Amino acid sequence: MATDIMPRTGSATLAPLETLFETKRGKVLPLPPKLARLYGCLRMPLPRSHPHVFSNFVTTLDGVVSLNTKGHASGGDISGFSAQDRMVMGLLRAIADVVIIGSGTLRTDRRHVWTAEAIFPELAEDYSRLINAMGKRGAPLNVIVSGSGEIDLRLPVFATGKVPALIVTTTAGAKRLTKQSTPDSVEIRAIHRGAGAIPARAILDEVCRVRRGKLILVEGGPRLLGDFYAERLVDEQFLTLAPQIAGREADDRRLSLVMGKAFAPLDARWGTLIDVRRGSSHLFLRYSFPDHRPGRRISRP
Ligand SMILES: NC(=O)c1ccc[n+]([C@@H]2O[C@H](COP(=O)([O-])OP(=O)(O)OC[C@H]3O[C@@H](n4cnc5c(N)ncnc54)[C@H](OP(=O)(O)O)[C@@H]3O)[C@@H](O)[C@H]2O)c1
Repeated sequence: MATDIMPRTGSATLAPLETLFETKRGKVLPLPPKLARLYGCLRMPLPRSHPHVFSNFVTTLDGVVSLNTKGHASGGDISGFSAQDRMVMGLLRAIADVVIIGSGTLRTDRRHVWTAEAIFPELAEDYSRLINAMGKRGAPLNVIVSGSGEIDLRLPVFATGKVPALIVTTTAGAKRLTKQSTPDSVEIRAIHRGAGAIPARAILDEVCRVRRGKLILVEGGPRLLGDFYAERLVDEQFLTLAPQIAGREADDRRLSLVMGKAFAPLDARWGTLIDVRRGSSHLFLRYSFPDHRPGRRISRP
């Protein structure tokens, strides 16, 4: 994955993160010793009444999450291929029952499978111990959201059978997908008759029908995440701040955390900082977003 134009900031060694600030929300998860040493204590809310939706992204100091250029469109280009960032990605995938991505993210990372060991193979055994300690059945359900159904079912996430996969699409998308043969590990659900985006609530409901889970990780990309924020369905944002300024031309195609939706100034999403860890010059931030379910108070700064 290395490139000669990429300074590999903080990526050479896998040193433990330094916890600068943490809160005592949620249940302490049973991290095996090596992961506990690398990450520190990890707490997660495990509500009984609804799934907990959390997202994980890496951004540059100037708010770019994808350079969106051929050969340099990955999260690694943003993090400087930080080993610590990959370690955290693996940790969050290991505790997740479900990982949801949009088809744009799949198209960028075509060979990937959204499991802990795929992002950090050296820690595979430790992630597996965590998965067992949490009483999970194995790999998280990999959910791919696509309105068009323009997805190649020969890609590893579908064809290797390493993960159970669910494609959430429209009726037109499902029709297009039936032209390919569907591997046994893949389920296709058409839940939207219209031509536009599928409502995030409908995606979440369908996911919960297929896999009853408490922890749902949205790994993006920015358009899918925008839909989840628009419907106030994100409970927490993990955000790695990478110490680079990517810059942008006035008309370039670089992406920020949320694309396709605008909230501020009238309807901004304000979060509360609940955790800060440091790995060399990278910051690992965690924000909670107020609960907007009916009857709950919405707080603003
Ligand atoms: N820095 C990070 O942490 C990070 C994390 C994730 C991704 N990324 C980067 O982000 C880039 C991709 O961005 P993106 O915004 O294109 O990604 P995306 O949200 O993964 O994909 C957009 C596509 O997903 C489908 N989609 C998303 N929401 C939908 C909805 N509500 N209903 C129906 N379909 C929906 C649509 O697919 P169809 O066109 O098939 O209808 C849409 O064109 C990549 O470069 C990736 O590496 C960065």
